[in-house]
Amino acid sequence: MSSQDKAKTSYAQVATAYDGYAQTPAGIIEAQLIARALGPGDLTGLHVLDLGGGSGIHARECIDYGAESVDIVDISPEMLKIASNIEESLGREGKIRFFEADVSKPLSEYNHPLREKYDVVMANWIFSHADKRSTLEGMFANIGAYLKPGGIFVGIRDANPFSHEFKRGKYGAHTGWVKEIEGGVKYWAVLHCKPEPVEFEVASLEIIYGGSKELYENAGLTKIVEMSLERSFFGCCACCEDLDPGSYWKAL
Ligand SMILES: C[S@@+](CC[C@H](N)C(=O)[O-])C[C@H]1O[C@@H](n2cnc3c(N)ncnc32)[C@H](O)[C@@H]1O
Repeated sequence: MSSQDKAKTSYAQVATAYDGYAQTPAGIIEAQLIARALGPGDLTGLHVLDLGGGSGIHARECIDYGAESVDIVDISPEMLKIASNIEESLGREGKIRFFEADVSKPLSEYNHPLREKYDVVMANWIFSHADKRSTLEGMFANIGAYLKPGGIFVGIRDANPFSHEFKRGKYGAHTGWVKEIEGGVKYWAVLHCKPEPVEFEVASLEIIYGGSKELYENAGLTKIVEMSLERSFFGCCACCEDLDPGSYWKAL
């Protein structure tokens, strides 16, 4: 089964529980890193494309920070349905749009009325659903194609699938098995969402977790900034002495 088909099957099962990830320590840190990267207020009037945006956790943050609109593209209709239900429950219409597509394929091949270019493109955690370099290249091709010159790309990725913290589940997620594959690893991820954990198989290729800028630069991205856990607000609180400097939650 391709990693794309696997993602589709996995998220059909976990879609309802996935949004609870936002309340885990990792989810809270992530939101803070996104806030640092995009800055509340800095998105006023801007249009955002959220590749693999799932249940809309970060899309909603962008709206909160003033974005005019967010287009979520995701392979899982179930995740998109959760995102659209949440929008409906907030009584909002037209701020977030939802499109089903595989973001490792050229999005121009779908008949979706996407904008030609976006001020901001996000791709949070989708690289963990690519077990081949060619899949990553397809994802980065879309990032490059849809980002305006001078626009901002933000992406959260895993930085160290072997980290002690990840094994122990320190930040509200842990690895089950880890298996080496060509160019990286596959692993079983367990997210400590409430009321029930969310579990699925993911992949992490060395070209991503090792911090290489190659794929980013090939997509035309420049001035690449790596933001570590220490730069989330958590980094300033009492628990900072507890943090491993090689921590694995990073926003690029
Ligand atoms: C771990 S979730 C992250 C969701 C969201 N980006 C966030 O940070 O809350 C990964 C999402 O990527 C989507 N996904 C995985 N592979 C994809 C692909 N090839 N094309 C589109 N979406 C994909 C999944 O359906 C899922 O919603």
